Amino acid sequence: MGILEVKGINKRFGGLQALGDVNLSVEENTVHAIIGPNGAGKSTLLNVLVGKLIPDSGSVMFDGQSVLGRKPHEINQMGISRVFQTPEIFTDLTVFENVMIPCFAKRDGAFRMHAIESIVSEKGIRAQAEEMLADVNMLEKRDMLTSSLSRGDKRRLEMAMCLVQDPKLLLLDEPTAGMARADTENTINLLKEIRTKRGITMAIIEHDMNVVFSLAERITVLAQGTPLVEDIPENIKGHPKVREAYLGEAQV
Ligand SMILES: Nc1ncnc2c1ncn2[C@@H]1O[C@H](COP(=O)(O)OP(=O)(O)OP(=O)(O)O)[C@@H](O)[C@H]1O
Ligand SMILES: [Mg+2]
Repeated sequence: MGILEVKGINKRFGGLQALGDVNLSVEENTVHAIIGPNGAGKSTLLNVLVGKLIPDSGSVMFDGQSVLGRKPHEINQMGISRVFQTPEIFTDLTVFENVMIPCFAKRDGAFRMHAIESIVSEKGIRAQAEEMLADVNMLEKRDMLTSSLSRGDKRRLEMAMCLVQDPKLLLLDEPTAGMARADTENTINLLKEIRTKRGITMAIIEHDMNVVFSLAERITVLAQGTPLVEDIPENIKGHPKVREAYLGEAQV
């Protein structure tokens, strides 16, 4: 029994079956990659897991409790955090202020923008935010406005904003998308360090096979909304069904 158990999820958008009978089991303390061509339904599945989308049928159990029917912030409080495909950060605040917001929301269960000045002055929260920024190598950029950050920095900031919530499960939707090689390598190392230090279970969606094979202990291949294969990385490499799904795309 995994920490996350997804069973028989279906989701249609009009005439399109975006998810068709998706089953997924993510074991505690592992990195599980979900791969597949563009439009396979990967982000849709993540949206279901975090309460942004209600599926037409199926069940999602996390840590023994049902996720479906809960609001995103309730699922967040259950211990699921995610790094979005497009980073969601406050562009008119600094790096440091952005990380303090989830610290504050975790403690008090709510956050109002006008409270930012009182949050900044709280020592405990400052210390937590500093630790998280150090963990993602962003401490020296703490006073920069996030609008001036590079794509890689924005991703790292978002990771810090997730980690500060002390999640049991971290969902990452293409954490290296659009990054240069060096930044991608940094992100791989960072995720390895986070895993070693905090032992967080991770589910990662990724197109870069170097990232997938560097991090994942299990891989699920989605194609046209349905899982084709789930196995250890050695068995996914060169698997005929996987090659077929990716025909003309990334080499697996
Ligand atoms: N809100 C929506 N309304 C209608 N169709 C949608 C919606 N969200 C996603 N889709 C469609 O569902 C399918 C799956 O989309 P999804 O974003 O989950 O794919 P993906 O595997 O994440 O792709 P990518 O690798 O490009 O990010 C696509 O055909 C997409 O166009
Ligand atoms: Mg996607």
